[in-house]
Amino acid sequence: MVGGGVAGSRGRPGGSPGPLPERLLAALAAAGAPPVTDPAVLLGLGTDWTGRWSGPVLAAVAPSTTEQVVAVLAAARATGVPVQVQGGNTGLVGGSVPDRPALLLRTTRLQRLDAVDPLERTVLVGAGVTAARLAAHAAAAGLRFGVDLAARDSATIGGMAATNAGGIAVLAHGPMRQQVRGLTAVLADGRVVRSAGRPRKDNAGYALAELLVGSEGTLGVITEVELALHPAPPASTVALLGVPDLAGAVAAGRAVEAAGGQLLAAEVVDAAGARRAAAALRLPDPLPPRAAWLLLLEVADGGTGEALGPVADQVVAVGSSPPDRARLWALRERQTELYAQLPDLVDKLDVSVRLDHLDAAVGAVRDAARGPGPAGAGPERPAGGAPWVGIFGHALDGNLHVQLVGADPLAAQRVLEVVAALGGSISAEHGIGRLKAAQLGMVRSADELAWMRALKAGVDPTGLLNPGVLLGG
Ligand code: FAD
Ligand code: LAC
Ligand code: ZN
Repeated sequence: MVGGGVAGSRGRPGGSPGPLPERLLAALAAAGAPPVTDPAVLLGLGTDWTGRWSGPVLAAVAPSTTEQVVAVLAAARATGVPVQVQGGNTGLVGGSVPDRPALLLRTTRLQRLDAVDPLERTVLVGAGVTAARLAAHAAAAGLRFGVDLAARDSATIGGMAATNAGGIAVLAHGPMRQQVRGLTAVLADGRVVRSAGRPRKDNAGYALAELLVGSEGTLGVITEVELALHPAPPASTVALLGVPDLAGAVAAGRAVEAAGGQLLAAEVVDAAGARRAAAALRLPDPLPPRAAWLLLLEVADGGTGEALGPVADQVVAVGSSPPDRARLWALRERQTELYAQLPDLVDKLDVSVRLDHLDAAVGAVRDAARGPGPAGAGPERPAGGAPWVGIFGHALDGNLHVQLVGADPLAAQRVLEVVAALGGSISAEHGIGRLKAAQLGMVRSADELAWMRALKAGVDPTGLLNPGVLLGG
């Protein structure tokens, strides 16, 4: 076991971070990236989407070219000021804000958006372009960007590459790593890696640029990404099903596939979460009384609903028109936001197991969250503020988002331990960030950790970039 409760690893609050060295200020201005130093603005920028992580920002800069990023990092290196990289600031693991006085490097002005290459089916974009903007750009060219997530209006392509974001389309297209054809990045030591524009097949040595994907800003600043795009699928049908357990959810998805349906998504929400979302959206209770889970399937079937034949007896609602589909999707997509509104949300975890372990994981997670205390942590919200575990996620990816509400501070640690014991991962798609840096050893061996640290030291010997993120320290 790795020591230290997950809930105890919050960053220290913002406040008075101290002055920025004059030399750094002058160098940033000369680089064409004049810093913002207004304390009120910095306080906001130093707090993440969850509002649970914040840290002292000395100043914020928003370079608009790779060359400016090179100059900003050079100035920071020369003055020994740590750099915190931030994209859309929608990350859920505390990795987008500092835990010590730092210069905040925002990527939001890296807004290059090239024309789509229809032959290669790729596009080159700046790291600060949002997922929604890229999706619209791809759609205008008749193609589809393969990663989609509820934070699409703010999450940036650079942040999504840095966290290897997953989301609701992994089933169809894989996570961000599978979309990245090439990238430009400025390493912490100032070297620039450029791999965009290469042929699809390129086996010449180590895949250095790919190492940046999922590195959470610890190795370099991604400034441009070349992305693979996909042919747009046929019109789709969205269906809600009531299922007794997650084995049933997986079986339903596989049955639709076996009958020739192309699954675009297979998402689950536990009964209590589905009912809360329905109430918030003023929709009818979506579930039959005995169903423990709501399963949302999106099938590319030309909008006919025919592919749902094998699971017809479990279907409770079907949407083919865009507004109907959006209404059904909202029951799933609003989950993160609805849990974030609860004042007693203690932790939100993002775990994965192999598909045949899903129901065992749900049971073990609920037991672990309950802990030794007398109050039970179950799927339904109990009276009197007793602990409660809410679960939703990406069923056919084996990915569960576990919401610990009213739980004791060590519950998250216990949950991660039981997931690791089942051979699962403590981070399916959100990354390690600051939230789980102390727990990385649960799922990576000492040799693997040593190799990761050697990679970091090889490009960032002084620990300039995102100190404390991913590797701790
Ligand atoms: P930030 O939050 O700004 O940063 C995230 C990390 O990446 C930080 O460590 C940061 O330092 C680093 N970073 C950012 N940009 C760069 C760069 N250009 N170069 C190097 N490092 C960089 N995530 C999923 O995977 N799947 C989901 O389904 C999903 N749904 C979400 C729904 C909601 C409502 C919210 C709020 C979040 C959700 N997320 C999801 C989490 C989040 O959107 C993703 O982690 C996203 O990839 C973060 O992108 P960002 O631009 O906001 O990055
Ligand atoms: C989702 C985020 C929390 O799947 O990853 O909604
Ligand atoms: Zn998710």
